[in-house]
Amino acid sequence: MNLKPTTTIVLTTLVAIPLAGLVWAATTSAMRDDTDRIARGKYLVTYGDCNACHTPLKPGANGPEPDWSRMLAGHPAETELPPPPNLEGSPWFAATAGMTAWAGPWGISYAANLTPDQNTGMGIWTEEMFIQAMRTGRHMGSGRPILPPMPWHSIATLSDDDLKAIFAYLRTLPAIANSVPGPLGPDGQPMFPE
Ligand code: HEC
Repeated sequence: MNLKPTTTIVLTTLVAIPLAGLVWAATTSAMRDDTDRIARGKYLVTYGDCNACHTPLKPGANGPEPDWSRMLAGHPAETELPPPPNLEGSPWFAATAGMTAWAGPWGISYAANLTPDQNTGMGIWTEEMFIQAMRTGRHMGSGRPILPPMPWHSIATLSDDDLKAIFAYLRTLPAIANSVPGPLGPDGQPMFPE
C-alpha cells in the first residue's frame, strides 16, 4: 500500500498518542503501586515496632526517647558495654537501656542495622532473602539461626505482600554506617566466628 506522507503522519499520530498514554498510565500506576507499598511498609514497621529494638533510645527531656538520627541502624557499634549482670540460674534476662543489646541464656544479641548501608546494613540483601529470613528465622534466609528477642515468629505470619512492603520501606531509609557486632555465646565468645 502506498500511503501519502500526510496519511502516514496522521496514522502514526493516531497510534502514538494512545500508546504514549498507555505507557504513561502504566508508569504512573507502577509509581503509585511503589508509593502505596512503601507507605504500607512504613505503617507495618511503625506498628510492628521494629524501632523498639532497632532504633537506640537516648535520654530525653521526658525520659528515654528514640534517637531518630540513628533510625533502625541497630545497636550502636561504638558503645563499650561492661559485661551484663550475672544472670546465671536466674529467670531474668537483661537489655541495655538503649534497648539494642540483649543478654540471656543464649548469650548476647545485638539488634541488626536495617538501613540500606552496603557494608553494615541490608544494602546487599535481596527481597527474597528478607522474606526467607523472616519466614525461617535464618540469617539472610539461609545462614545461622536468628536469636532472641528478634520476634521473627510473629513477623513470619505476615503475607508475602506485607513482607515485600516492609522491605521496600526499609530500602528508602537513609543508609547509616554502623557495624553491629555479631552475637556472643554464654561463654562471652563470638557465637558464630567468621
Ligand atoms: C524485641 C526486639 C526486636 C524487635 C521488636 C524487632 N527486632 Fe529485628 N532483631 C532484633 C535482634 C536482637 C536482632 C539480632 C539477632 C541476631 O543477631 O541473631 C534482630 C535482627 C533482625 C534482622 C536481621 C536478621 C538476619 O538475618 O541477620 C532483621 C532483618 C530484623 N531484625 C528485622 C526486624 C523487623 C522488620 C522488625 C519489625 C517488624 C523487627 N526486626 C523487630 C530485635 C528485634
